Amino acid sequence: MKQNRDAIILKTGDEIECMRRAGRVVAAVLDRCERACRPGVTTRELDDLAHQTFTSLGATGLFYGYPDYQPGMGYPRHTCISVNEEIVHGIPGDRIVRNGDIVSIDCGVRLDGWCADSARTILVGEVKPEERRLVESTRRCLDEAIAAIRPGRAWSDIGRMMEQIAVLERLGIIREYVGHGIGRTMHEPPKVPNYAITAGGREDFLLRPGMVIAVEPMLTLGRGRTLTLKDGWTVVTRDRRPAAHEEHTVAVTAWGADVLTLG
Ligand code: MF3
Ligand code: CO
Repeated sequence: MKQNRDAIILKTGDEIECMRRAGRVVAAVLDRCERACRPGVTTRELDDLAHQTFTSLGATGLFYGYPDYQPGMGYPRHTCISVNEEIVHGIPGDRIVRNGDIVSIDCGVRLDGWCADSARTILVGEVKPEERRLVESTRRCLDEAIAAIRPGRAWSDIGRMMEQIAVLERLGIIREYVGHGIGRTMHEPPKVPNYAITAGGREDFLLRPGMVIAVEPMLTLGRGRTLTLKDGWTVVTRDRRPAAHEEHTVAVTAWGADVLTLG
């Protein structure tokens, strides 16, 4: 297959173990933020907690100052926190978490030179059944994608599976943002779409042992069209319907998938 004129950088077993250590830090951050994500907390407080947590574990954040740090420029916070109609890249701030919200927290860190990136959508208190179904389906998309990973398989097979789940659940797919290879930097080739692409086409690639990818489906109860707010970062659904986002950093092994962002 042609894509990946930008070569995918394969990782050794030792390098994957380094990435797992970074992944454990991300999991610890998300676990703590999940416990703290209750009505009344602000997204800034969750961001501060994330920052303290990964710093105390010896890691640095990947998001602050992204894409290139210059004083006063780049992404201003340590995590992305996207509530309800916000899909991704929500900037933590004064927004107060309320009963019934769905709150996606996305965190990436570097530890000893290696990166990991993960996101989860948290259900706060009594969430409407259809929004609960949205979050559960997004999780299922990620889980089934991971379960389907094996060497030799084309990514287009897995993207198609994820799209089928969304279609069966009558959910919209966010197509403007995709997963990515990850390693010494947060974004490496290949692009990892969470929807059907042409088998053998320019965007397709074959899974190989040593590849490490961030898989990150985003689904919505609405149509899936996006809009970036005037802050230059926060991506919302145009129809303001709620969206969910789930992400893990996953290594392809000789036998299947190894999820690196677990506790
Ligand atoms: N986790 C996001 C991704 O996978 C990156 C967040 S954008 C940043 O691409 F600006 F916050 F870094
Ligand atoms: Co990512």
